[in-house]
Amino acid sequence: MSCRVWTADRCRCSTNLETISVYGLGRVGLVTAVCYAKKGCRVIGIESDQLRLEQIRRGNSPFYEPGLTNCLAETIKDGSLVVTNTPSLSSEAKICFVTVGTPNTSDGSVNLNDLRRVLSTIAMLRQDDRRRIVVVKSTVPPGTTRHIVKPILERETRHRFGLCYNPEFLREGSAIHDAEFPDRIIIGGEPLDSAVLAEFYKKMHEPNLPKLILTNYENAELIKYANNAFLATKVSFINCIAGIAERIPNADIKTVADAIGLDQRIGSSFLNAGLGWGGSCLPKDLQALVTLSKRLGHDPKLIEAVIETNREQRLKPLGAARRALGALKGKRVAVLGLAFKPNTDDLREAASIFVIRGLVNEGADVVVYDPVALQAARLVFDNAIEYASNAQTCLDRADCCIVVTEWDEFRSIPPAVFVERMRRPIVIDGRRIYDANEFIRAGIQLVAVGLGPSVPD
Ligand code: UGA
Repeated sequence: MSCRVWTADRCRCSTNLETISVYGLGRVGLVTAVCYAKKGCRVIGIESDQLRLEQIRRGNSPFYEPGLTNCLAETIKDGSLVVTNTPSLSSEAKICFVTVGTPNTSDGSVNLNDLRRVLSTIAMLRQDDRRRIVVVKSTVPPGTTRHIVKPILERETRHRFGLCYNPEFLREGSAIHDAEFPDRIIIGGEPLDSAVLAEFYKKMHEPNLPKLILTNYENAELIKYANNAFLATKVSFINCIAGIAERIPNADIKTVADAIGLDQRIGSSFLNAGLGWGGSCLPKDLQALVTLSKRLGHDPKLIEAVIETNREQRLKPLGAARRALGALKGKRVAVLGLAFKPNTDDLREAASIFVIRGLVNEGADVVVYDPVALQAARLVFDNAIEYASNAQTCLDRADCCIVVTEWDEFRSIPPAVFVERMRRPIVIDGRRIYDANEFIRAGIQLVAVGLGPSVPD
């Protein structure tokens, strides 16, 4: 493939690399664009939000993702990534990745408005007879690619497009690594189209090419939902066993999880008991799966129980705080960690939201700290709560501390700091980051997820 000159000074393509376009520069799109620009592609990123676009153009990531800002600045600077709101600039791209959001609507179905809009744009753009492949990466219900995406592409243009559904499995917080080293690549589509995309991935990921699974649209779409549903099920499962362990003297979910994780049929990941799963994907995808399943006439009992277990799990610190302090009105409660998991500033469906709302509703004075999500929290809670500038000052004069997110910097706070700074040293460890014996020896009243009461022999 020859390098079609973008602008003479900007093109640094070698003769064998592709021009690709990425529509929608959110958490998935921007990481995808940067990753392939770094690997030598010429990437045209299309984003319709002007503020976001300007920020990206300046080489700043609009959200926190470790490592992203550096790579972004580099690829913008050397011209391998060009971002624009003018789709026509992408007309020479042979592969068009679509990574727009597909949020849930209030009835649990999936809102495909952005996807439809982008597809119409892509279809109308085509100016020559070279075959393009449209690759949908956004999470969509099974049937969408065949019955919605394909007809839109066919309706808007006389040109024929190749079409693949290619789910992504990037985790926030380690998205750059996941984009560079995927553990499998799923491609749904007609064999000819899938072969073109597979060839692209082979070029990009050799010598670390993972297993490629070529299948039809529907399987590829369902794989994405099944994947997230299984991860959520593992977490809700271990949280359910944690609830049992909490009622058994001397039991500890950590030991139990470590042991069952060694059974290769179970596996050790996603067995950390805590305050449940949140984020922009698992909650949305499980809800969409329930809606889809019911629409198809299948009762999704298991998935509903997984969701309900999670709903109860994230409220557990409220019960623990009440048991330790009595009425919460007027009590000062320190919350360590706001993001739905470490290494992100994303608050969507974070346990912190549910815990803080509950505390505020009961009249507690809430003070919070998070290494990167404070700004996002201000948008949600404004002046209903207090914002500390570091973890230690967050603890000052607190009657109780709740650990909601397992940031590394919280792990290293010694028990003496809690004892010195808090009014009452009561710690609710929602993510099992502290050594219970050490904390109890230091005089702390520790309540930890999945830890039974300690009873001497
Ligand atoms: C998830 C999937 O892991 C990705 O593969 C997928 O691409 C992505 O959704 C998506 O659909 O786009 P992410 O939302 O970044 O990624 O978060 P996870 O790392 O899956 O964590 C989800 C939640 O589970 C977090 O709240 C985390 O704290 C919780 N969790 C995870 C536990 O409580 N215990 C565990 O052992 C693991």
